[in-house]
Amino acid sequence: MLRIAVLVSGGGTNLQALIDAEKDGIIKNGKIELVLSSKEGVYALERAKNADIKTVVVARKDYSNIEEYSLKLIEVLKENNIDLIVLAGFMTIISESVSRAFENKIVNVHPALIPSFCGKGYYGLHVHEEALKKGVKLSGATVHFVTEVCDGGPIILQKAVEVKDDDTPETLQRRIMEEAEWKILPEAVSLICQGKVKVIDGKTKIER
Ligand code: GAR
Repeated sequence: MLRIAVLVSGGGTNLQALIDAEKDGIIKNGKIELVLSSKEGVYALERAKNADIKTVVVARKDYSNIEEYSLKLIEVLKENNIDLIVLAGFMTIISESVSRAFENKIVNVHPALIPSFCGKGYYGLHVHEEALKKGVKLSGATVHFVTEVCDGGPIILQKAVEVKDDDTPETLQRRIMEEAEWKILPEAVSLICQGKVKVIDGKTKIER
């Protein structure tokens, strides 16, 4: 059974999707043991407490640079014997030391079809604002492994979602969450926990 940590910074709807998937038996061979937040007082922490999951806040604002912050993250994750780290709306860029300490053991959900609308500055609603500005007809979500390249690690799962003419960033965000993120994130976590995802030459190979 893999010990999972979910890292959050906000509302935590993706965390909720993971909690529900674990309860429904969709996540096989994995258990959420820790929810770590980069901010105090976010609703994701309430969701974790309601599900009786241990929480810890490692506030980004308490650290003067990313390197010190990342070292603290590694310490907490190792102390808790974490095998798999899920970035679920974690709005802090982490340093290379974290991705090296947990190589192919960190996944992120991104609210677009990578390599579109990704990289530094593309997070939360900004992603959907840019997609609407460009006029794409399809957007979606991607779950990928985290490497030192922001949003650049091996892609695990993707799902496309239709963009409508009257979409606002908020309506598009919601549809992408409902139709893509909340489905492919638990599915990817379950596949990894079952040892069905291999990384070969920077790409994943999935056994189903
Ligand atoms: C989600 O849409 C997630 O994909 C996005 O932030 C939102 C968090 O919502 N993440 C990023 O933009 C990371 N680059 P949630 O807190 O309700 O899960």
